[in-house]
Amino acid sequence: MSEELPPLRIGRLESEFPIVLGGMSTALTNSELAAAVANQGGFGTIGGVGLGMVEGTKRKKEYFTGCETNLRQEINDALEKSNDGNIGVNLMVAVTDYENLVKVSVETGAKFIASGAGLPLSLPEYVEKYKVPGQPTPELIPIVSGVRAAELVLRRWKKDGVTPAAFIVETPNTAGGHLGVTKSEDIGKSEFSLETVVPQLVEVLEQQGIDIPVIAAGGVWDKEDILKSLSPKVGAKGVQISTRFIATDECNASTAFKERHVDNNDPIIVIKSPVGMPGRAIENSFIRRVNEKTPEENIDLGSCVNCLRVCAHAKDPFASFCIIRALYNVRVGDIDNGVLFTGSNGDRLKEDREKGIHSARQIMQELTKK
Ligand SMILES: Cc1cc2nc3c(=O)[nH]c(=O)nc-3n(C[C@H](O)[C@H](O)[C@H](O)COP(=O)(O)O)c2cc1C
Repeated sequence: MSEELPPLRIGRLESEFPIVLGGMSTALTNSELAAAVANQGGFGTIGGVGLGMVEGTKRKKEYFTGCETNLRQEINDALEKSNDGNIGVNLMVAVTDYENLVKVSVETGAKFIASGAGLPLSLPEYVEKYKVPGQPTPELIPIVSGVRAAELVLRRWKKDGVTPAAFIVETPNTAGGHLGVTKSEDIGKSEFSLETVVPQLVEVLEQQGIDIPVIAAGGVWDKEDILKSLSPKVGAKGVQISTRFIATDECNASTAFKERHVDNNDPIIVIKSPVGMPGRAIENSFIRRVNEKTPEENIDLGSCVNCLRVCAHAKDPFASFCIIRALYNVRVGDIDNGVLFTGSNGDRLKEDREKGIHSARQIMQELTKK
């Protein structure tokens, strides 16, 4: 494929290639992976939520202090490792410390904030509140699954005199992690595909005279997929990729987590998360346990720190399970006691291993070669 990839401009920022590393919480896309992608000409996103969950975290205060301190550290490290490159954060609106994480990101000099898992209606207000005199504020990128959500954000932000620097459209049909639909039955419908939503959003923006890029997320694997997203028919100006980077050396996951992906023989399914959104994950023994549990059984992964605005398990310990601990467990290697979030491309990570691709640097080089 000899076609050259164009650069991507997001507000005042420009990258050599139109590739954004999608934030993966909790601590999967940390400074190392974000810097690797930025150093190869992309935008590097740190998964900014849940960083306070470490071995033995029990108390609320300890958790939230950890979230703040570790996010500050990851942003600083990523900026340093990328020589002040295009480093930003992904912040989920759904977390209870959202405002504080915005504050930390602004103060630490994150170049952009991508925000979804809920509508980031208050994001500009928080950025304004915590801006540092003399320091540029982060470029703001809402993540949406459909045009209606994008229009709501545009309308609300207009009141603050703020225009998004870009939109990320994430399709629930293929993306990993929490998915932006309320009903699992909607997943797979063509009305939520990138081919449908991206052109619709491009048109809305054109009608409103707003000249910002739309970035397509979900199921992008290779250069052909990137070129398809950038084609006039779809109209994206960039892509966001996560799953392909999961098994890389730079990804902050245990070897067990990476190898579970590479050797996976279980189906990739849609699960019900306690957050109230569906999520895409590898079906493992933990998910089977959750599905088969009786109403009297409490799948207790540790004490609740009240990390989410809406959480079925926090409300009733016998309902659902603790998602933050479930994600933490698999990241550190306890892969049978947690949720292995992945995208629909999760089964393809073995292809990279077979080709001798082990690093994010190699993936970026393969994606961008002429
Ligand atoms: C393990 C995992 C964790 C994720 N965590 C987050 C997150 O914290 N916030 C978010 O907005 N998106 C999250 N996502 C979604 C990605 O950022 C991305 O938009 C999507 O997965 C892109 O599709 P792809 O994985 O097929 O490349 C996650 C995805 C995965 C696979």
